[in-house]
Amino acid sequence: MNHTHPALIPGSLNTLFLRNRIIKAGTFENMTPGGKPSQRLELFHSQFADGGVAMTTIGYCAVATEGALNANMMVMEEAIRDKLEALISSLHAKGCKVSGQMGHCGAFSKNRNLTVRPKGPSKGLNILGFTEGMWLADAMSIGDIDDMVGKYRSAALFMKSVGFDALEIHFGHGYGLCQFLSPLTNRRTDEYGGSLENRLRLPLRVLAAVRDAVGQDYPILGKISMSEGRRGGLDYDDAVVIAKALDENGIDGIVTSGGTSTMNPMLMFRGKSILPALLEHEKSRAMRLLYRLVGKKMFPSMPFYELYFIEQAKRIRKAVNCKLIYIGGASSGRSLETLFSAGFDFVQLGRALLADPDLPKQLHSDPHAASRCTHCNRCVGTIESPLGIHCTEYGLTLADSESQSHRAGE
Ligand SMILES: Cc1cc2nc3c(=O)[nH]c(=O)nc-3n(C[C@H](O)[C@H](O)[C@H](O)COP(=O)(O)O)c2cc1C
Repeated sequence: MNHTHPALIPGSLNTLFLRNRIIKAGTFENMTPGGKPSQRLELFHSQFADGGVAMTTIGYCAVATEGALNANMMVMEEAIRDKLEALISSLHAKGCKVSGQMGHCGAFSKNRNLTVRPKGPSKGLNILGFTEGMWLADAMSIGDIDDMVGKYRSAALFMKSVGFDALEIHFGHGYGLCQFLSPLTNRRTDEYGGSLENRLRLPLRVLAAVRDAVGQDYPILGKISMSEGRRGGLDYDDAVVIAKALDENGIDGIVTSGGTSTMNPMLMFRGKSILPALLEHEKSRAMRLLYRLVGKKMFPSMPFYELYFIEQAKRIRKAVNCKLIYIGGASSGRSLETLFSAGFDFVQLGRALLADPDLPKQLHSDPHAASRCTHCNRCVGTIESPLGIHCTEYGLTLADSESQSHRAGE
């Protein structure tokens, strides 16, 4: 008997029809030199569109200049309208929907274009800015908070108008909104700090502003860190409260990630330590020295097993009515079957698709197809590579990119 793999059954997010349940996760591409989308960015996402994903996520779309972690991140402004429209329509032509991850780095930034200190919930060190001589971060005033909400709203309006089919607000991984949620980084004593209810105030204001901008029938996703993996930080119990609050305030889907980029990235990735890859690609000598001093402690190898967040994500499944999008170590037909029988609506894949962009297509003929990703995590270091991110074993090469540029007359 012919049996359609559950990951290949069409689904919907709000009014958006998706041809199956597989979404390419946001993985910052570093293919936007000077903040402008390149041909390589199109080539990168075309792999997943051709490979059969229902939707691909363009990583880290900064909602404001001060929200861009570095100077090579796109800021959602008119200057890049034409290029973004062209990119999105080329992916639409392949039957693939496109989501944009809305990011704001808050207190940590290595963006040399900044003329003022980065700002987060509270004063402190700018963990990522040392090598740029940007040591400190300031606390946002109430005016800054209002301004940030306004920037999310404007960015959402812009992103919908250039053709994005869905928006994914980043509430996790230690970025700006996560800094407000976390008791480790939010030490405010006003209505935006203290209790979890107060720490949720800005994230919920942002969700309301984005909803106001895009309308009721447009899909909004939110990516959360279910745990920061640090004593005193956000934990799995908090995640249930956060997910419920987002659900009650009209989010369409929650992506259940974990860890933070600055405090505990290995909780997010699992597998081999990312340290060797970071050392290989980091250009700054000061940063390499820092990695050598603290890297082993900061980036310990963590055992990889498929679906490493499933038990924690199941708690969120029980707590919310909105769509739930599983992320974390899903890389084979078998693990996708497990997810869908556990009640998840969609899955996001990161590394599995970097190695094998056509995994969705493979599932049509082989329900047990599996990605060749070995979780070596060398792709993580390639964030700093001039080629942009790629699987170092099986991914896009420079030659792929050159022939694409040649065809496009770049
Ligand atoms: C090279 C690379 C870049 C990433 N960049 C982002 C990013 O920009 N935004 C984000 O939310 N997550 C980012 N992630 C995390 C992934 O979205 C995902 O949460 C993580 O890789 C676990 O999923 P996986 O096991 O399917 O890879 C990145 C991951 C990798 C490997």
